[in-house]
Amino acid sequence: MNRIYLDHNASTPVDPRVAEVMRTLLETSFGNPSNPHWAAQPAKQALEAARAQVAALVGCAAGEIVFTSGGSEANNLALKGVFYARGKNPAHIITSAIEHPSILAPCDFLERQGVRITRLPVDGTGRVDPDDLRRAITSATILITLMHANNEVGTIQPIEACARIAREHGVPFHTDAAQSAAKISTSVDELGVDLLSIAGHKLYAPKGVGALYIRRGSRIEPLIHGAGHESGRRAGTESALLTAGLGAACEIGLDLAWTQRVRELRDHFLARLRDRFGDRVVLNGHPEYRLPNTLNVSFVGHRGADILAALDGIAASTGAACHSGRVEISSVLRAMGVTEAVGSGAVRFSLGRTTTQDEIDETVERISGVTSSGTGV
Ligand SMILES: Cc1ncc(COP(=O)(O)O)c(C=O)c1O
Repeated sequence: MNRIYLDHNASTPVDPRVAEVMRTLLETSFGNPSNPHWAAQPAKQALEAARAQVAALVGCAAGEIVFTSGGSEANNLALKGVFYARGKNPAHIITSAIEHPSILAPCDFLERQGVRITRLPVDGTGRVDPDDLRRAITSATILITLMHANNEVGTIQPIEACARIAREHGVPFHTDAAQSAAKISTSVDELGVDLLSIAGHKLYAPKGVGALYIRRGSRIEPLIHGAGHESGRRAGTESALLTAGLGAACEIGLDLAWTQRVRELRDHFLARLRDRFGDRVVLNGHPEYRLPNTLNVSFVGHRGADILAALDGIAASTGAACHSGRVEISSVLRAMGVTEAVGSGAVRFSLGRTTTQDEIDETVERISGVTSSGTGV
């Protein structure tokens, strides 16, 4: 049986070109990049080259990139860093109801510190309304954080419009681009954002590394205090190995040509599912403003988890969790107003650079098989 990987939004394999860069550095970059002597040079050079590569992906200056351990840390640094740099209440942060837990949980934490949090609703496709944002801003608003693209359904937010509103009100704007970087353009100037998070393992770099773009002049208190690494914004000796992996992946990610093929493959996937299931397959997410690799569909009358369990060898994710025999749909689908009946059949397929049409066609055949086999799926 073929193993098919359709869970690239969960994590991507390391690109062989990234692995090659890292393999060399594993032996040569042992020096501490903060030292002035010869042994530090390979590490220091790799670190700074990587910073420039990450900066090029988002269109900023190298000095505006802070390396982190991943997307979660970048998001935490953005939210808590802005709050603690202000250091006073009353403070107000605006976010959306469908953010990743690495935004929602820091918001809950800050709420316990006395910060007022507004969680904007989304429409049935998962998009926020910029007018809702405009109405939510007050004189106490210290930060707006809205994800660029959603991890479950792939919906892309109107970041440019929202960031423009933030700027009109003089409020810093953060976007979580963990899912969008290297899939769609994430130019910080085109988006108009002040802070932007990326996560290595979503763009063919290894786990354990990410970055936060911090627009020059933005005030951020570090989460990790210590020596002056990362220009005093994140203490801890940097890993030239991991950051070079992220840098190489960002350089490769500048070329978005592959996404057109993947978009066509994804649309072919949905068309084939519609041929088989008709209106018993429902698209979750925006039909147009959606990541090119993401297909979240509900198989009405089925449980997504049961389908995945029966699709032995096919890796994908469900949009619902089973608790004590009861299916609970994800908070993202719930916020989009998806009913329990439709949401419990949700499956997220996320394609990658190496996904082939044969894999998609085989997946459609296997889904058709398990949903009509009388297995109770
Ligand atoms: C939208 C989004 N933000 C942040 C993260 C967290 O990134 P990391 O796993 O690198 O901490 C993820 C990972 O699932 C994500 O999908």
